[in-house]
Amino acid sequence: MNDAASPTIPSADRVVSPRSRTEDAHLERSLRPRRLAEYIGQERVKASLSIFIEAAMARGEPLDHVLLYGPPGLGKTTLAAIIAAEMGVSLRITSGPAIERQGDLVSILTNLKPGDVLFIDEIHRLNRVVEEVLYSAMEDFAVDIVLGKGPAARTMRINLPKFTLVGATTRLALLTGPLRDRFGAVLRLDFYDLPSMEEIVARSADVLAVPISPEGASAVASRSRGTPRVANRLLKRVRDYAEVRGEGTITPELAADALSMLDVDALGLDDVDRRILRAIVDKFDGGPVGIDTLAAATSEESDTIMDVYEPYLIQLGFLQRTPRGRVATRGAYHHLGGPLPAIEPAQRTLFDAAK
Ligand SMILES: Nc1ncnc2c1ncn2[C@@H]1O[C@H](COP(=O)(O)OP(=O)(O)OP(=O)(O)O)[C@@H](O)[C@H]1O
Ligand SMILES: [Mg+2]
Repeated sequence: MNDAASPTIPSADRVVSPRSRTEDAHLERSLRPRRLAEYIGQERVKASLSIFIEAAMARGEPLDHVLLYGPPGLGKTTLAAIIAAEMGVSLRITSGPAIERQGDLVSILTNLKPGDVLFIDEIHRLNRVVEEVLYSAMEDFAVDIVLGKGPAARTMRINLPKFTLVGATTRLALLTGPLRDRFGAVLRLDFYDLPSMEEIVARSADVLAVPISPEGASAVASRSRGTPRVANRLLKRVRDYAEVRGEGTITPELAADALSMLDVDALGLDDVDRRILRAIVDKFDGGPVGIDTLAAATSEESDTIMDVYEPYLIQLGFLQRTPRGRVATRGAYHHLGGPLPAIEPAQRTLFDAAK
């Protein structure tokens, strides 16, 4: 049986991981949509962005700062590049953990040209001292730096070009209030629906010149966890399988065979997802179980569970987050093929609370 002690694939190596891996780098560059019109799905986000962009262009001003949040692999970096392209400016990319000192950020900021887009990925991981520099940069387009030490110290104000900050985060809750308030637009990316995913798979297949039937595209799309990065990776694996088997077009049967060989089931869940659900069901009687306990029981990190696995399991309705911990739903029992619990686990919290 699978339990915490059994050796498992490190989660970052899973074929369905929405996190970026080195093997994706080349693929992503060629598959990334460059303009808003090419960006599939996320209609609400696209509609807001195109209005912002049009209005800013009409005023001849840089775009207001934009914060993008949502699970990994849904297209935040892609959107940042699209914003810069639509505004006709350059894009400078960095990330929260990469900016260690105030000086690092000041040098990035002073090197921007008017209107440029600065993209800070994982912005929730900026350290506080650096973050404070960002406050005045975002608000006043200026930074105050301290020269010298002790009584002789004095501050000097440096004016910056007007720029647009695009921040991205997988965890909005970890952002401080003052930082969040300085964004003119806060946009949430959701998992893509099936028609959008089918379109993304078909588009990627077209770019890669992989022959695929519409049903084949649908089979790959439905196992891609509503995440374009996963779709592109699965498509690549299915293509390899088709080539080895010497078959031309990717059909749904071929996609299903290839993906079940990779241990990806019909909903896109793999061994780790099932292990998490199993742990809740078998070891904790359906839950509620605290995230840290669940992490210990599955040998995963709490952060990884929260960022990577949980969002999709919640989206499927297999897992619920309650104030007392994670709970497996009837859907999860069903998917695992086990007997249903006597009381709906989700109700158990209410039941306990009433006691
Ligand atoms: N709307 C879309 N239409 C088509 N392809 C997309 C779309 N969004 C993302 N992609 C594809 O998915 C890949 C991953 O997107 P991206 O790198 O922008 O995700 P991300 O949200 O920045 O992820 P992370 O949180 O890991 O940084 C891109 O290379 C692109 O090919
Ligand atoms: Mg990214």
